[in-house]
Amino acid sequence: MVRSEPFLFKVFPLLREKVPWIPLLTNIPTPVERLTNLENYFKLKQGQIYIKRDDKNHHIYGGNKLRKFEFLFANTLKRKKKKAIVTYGGIGTHHGLASIIVCRNFNPPINCDLFLYKQPLTKQVQQSLLLFKYFGARMHLGKKDIGTFVKTLFFWIFHRKYDFILPGGTPVFGRGTPLGTVGFIEAVLELKEQIDKSLIPEPDMIFVAGGTIGTAAGLTAGCKLLGLKTKVYAVAVYKHFLANSSNLTRNANKALKYLQKRDNSFPRIKISQDDFELIEGYLGSGYGHQTLKGQKAVNTVFNLEGKEKGFYLETTYTGKAMAAMFDFLGKEENKSKIVLFWNSYNSNDLDMYLKETNYDYKKLPKKFHKFFEKASFQLEN
Ligand SMILES: Cc1ncc(COP(=O)(O)O)c(C=O)c1O
Repeated sequence: MVRSEPFLFKVFPLLREKVPWIPLLTNIPTPVERLTNLENYFKLKQGQIYIKRDDKNHHIYGGNKLRKFEFLFANTLKRKKKKAIVTYGGIGTHHGLASIIVCRNFNPPINCDLFLYKQPLTKQVQQSLLLFKYFGARMHLGKKDIGTFVKTLFFWIFHRKYDFILPGGTPVFGRGTPLGTVGFIEAVLELKEQIDKSLIPEPDMIFVAGGTIGTAAGLTAGCKLLGLKTKVYAVAVYKHFLANSSNLTRNANKALKYLQKRDNSFPRIKISQDDFELIEGYLGSGYGHQTLKGQKAVNTVFNLEGKEKGFYLETTYTGKAMAAMFDFLGKEENKSKIVLFWNSYNSNDLDMYLKETNYDYKKLPKKFHKFFEKASFQLEN
């Protein structure tokens, strides 16, 4: 279902004229489902485990990006009147893939340039590369993350019809629009309605992967805004300089301030570091590196639940977040908790599009061929 307007505008009507928004999600509200096999696996006492099926929030590409894009792309197209976007991420970026799919589906489609830096190779990374090209992105290869970010900035400065959608749709060190984060305040309003309808008890905690940390920041702000007891457990899956508590606090408060400025009746709340948990120790040796714990969580959840319910996790984000949740639920003192796992990774089948690429990587710009010719995949501890 496509919404005619977000919950945010129903609850705070003054925001309707002041906050840009366009409908992009095609299957909303996303279901919350109970994972009883996983509950049995952990021998929970009164505890319960749920999953928020954001993996299916769009008919082509689900996951956490489009919630942000409903606000971000509205800003790009309606407010700034830009005609194209440039964005940035690792060579397997889900943010980049979601961006090009959205750009392709506007009528008329808009251009999308992707600046990509190197990350460990996996099959999913290769698939993303093929799909970037298939959906029509212009691909630029950089080396390391910071250098590639600077290249993206230069491109943007010299191409004025382009809007720069920041990495992950999140402000960088406090700079940039908080509209992506607002998308996840909206997501908590959706969850609250599901709690009110008794589709899920109010969770004690939400486990979610934290990269640029916009998703976790929006969820944290949303939970506090609605007075939920739910605490967000953000599992860091990117380097500490970005995925840290100060950044989460700053992003959450920037989004709240944005809304408070536009509506005097919007509650004057503020996020502090006591409002969430930032969990480190699951990154492995770096962004995108597969870990044994992450892979084990991916496999276990798929066998117990995903196979039947039609979702799978991956090893860069959701697998690591799930690994942290596994360790948490393994502890005796947590066996009575109501835990919600926020599934931020697409689970629609992209095979149909991949088949149409004929897996022909030679159609990609030459610089990218090496990611197919020299591929070897390794797991680390
Ligand atoms: C599947 C998945 N989960 C979680 C995240 C993290 O979201 P955020 O960057 O808002 O922390 C990403 C970001 O790319 C992602 O692709």
